[in-house]
Amino acid sequence: MSGRVAISGSKNAALPILAASLLTTGRCHLTNMPDIDDVNVMLKILADLGSQIKRPHRHEIIIATPKIRLSTPNPQLVQRLRASILLAGALIARTGQCRLFHPGGCVIGRRPIDTHLEAFRQLGVALRQEDNYYQLTTKQLRGRQIFLDEVSVTATENAVMAACLARGKTTITPAACEPHVVDLCLFLQKMGYQISGAGNHTIVITTNNKQLSTINIEHRLISDEVETGTLAAAALITKGKITLDNAPVDNLASIIHKLRQFGGRLSIKKPSLIVEYTEPLTAAGVQVDTWPRLPTDLQPVLTVLATQSRGTSLIHDWMYERRLGYIDELVKMGASITLCDPHRAIVAGPTKLSGGQIISPDIRAFLLFTLHYGQTYCH
Ligand code: EPZ
Repeated sequence: MSGRVAISGSKNAALPILAASLLTTGRCHLTNMPDIDDVNVMLKILADLGSQIKRPHRHEIIIATPKIRLSTPNPQLVQRLRASILLAGALIARTGQCRLFHPGGCVIGRRPIDTHLEAFRQLGVALRQEDNYYQLTTKQLRGRQIFLDEVSVTATENAVMAACLARGKTTITPAACEPHVVDLCLFLQKMGYQISGAGNHTIVITTNNKQLSTINIEHRLISDEVETGTLAAAALITKGKITLDNAPVDNLASIIHKLRQFGGRLSIKKPSLIVEYTEPLTAAGVQVDTWPRLPTDLQPVLTVLATQSRGTSLIHDWMYERRLGYIDELVKMGASITLCDPHRAIVAGPTKLSGGQIISPDIRAFLLFTLHYGQTYCH
């Protein structure tokens, strides 16, 4: 693979920011928006709720919600999108209620939402569960010291959104530090909500006025560090050289560090990342963690890179109990991998891979299957 391509806006920033657009009655003009199915599903849900949406360009969205029509997101759409959980925080803050079907998404593990529900309870939200629905209501959100059971990305984002219209100060710890959490907080600050500490493990929201914002917002989303890491790994796997423009160069430290360990030659010429294959690729360990360490979303990508690297690599994803679900399919393509348990695998390389008929449980794994010789049909 060789040439150059522009990196899209971050999927995991676009989804919370679209949900957060409910926290102003003003107009939100969003640019560097990724043109992907998850965004289209979120827009359909928001239109259902009462949002007025214009799309002057595939990477540009103008959304305004002067009035909320209903606070039950469409269950069929919610089941397609894990990030629909983020509408709960925004709807509870805006309307005092949300009736949410259990969110769907990639089959990579149980993905409980207990941390979200516990954060809402601490903010004064009453919860009733009926079949697969969560009925969340509150007369008044109360600012509190919230302790999250996990450093959960979307639970942090939900708690921040709900706290924007709580009475008094809210402190959230341990908060997730991912770049998309920081981008959401920046977007909310533009609405006038007072948020400090984004990017650290303690975020503080102080809104004494607890009035819904009416401000119009202009916001350019950050670029996607996972897409950047995916294409960079693809360049090494295919022994190529690429230039990635519009790359989030300030959010790539753990990714560049790991790809260099595999033997890649990477250099930053802001705002581009240049990636070049050098002979030979050498095995490296892959241990995912919460930010700023290696994102779990790159684990499937790095496993495929490990199959093309000389030596033995240990892959360890402690976060999801089924995120190695693609390993059997990769073995069918010729990889030499031992699955030790649901969280660890040992890869011996390099091995030649060939195309085949495979199933991918995880969007992140799918992207890399398509890189090998021979046709690969993935569903
Ligand atoms: C977000 O999901 C991302 N999605 C996921 O990206 C990403 O894999 C995940 O964060 C982790 O970085 C969006 O932002 C829309 P979690 P989220 O609640 O918030 C366990 C993709 O491919 N965990 O942080 O749902 C937890 O139980 C998607 O773009 C711990 O055990 O993830 C859950 O099973 C997939 N301990 C899993 O990790 C912790 O300290 C993810 O939790 C934190 C989490």
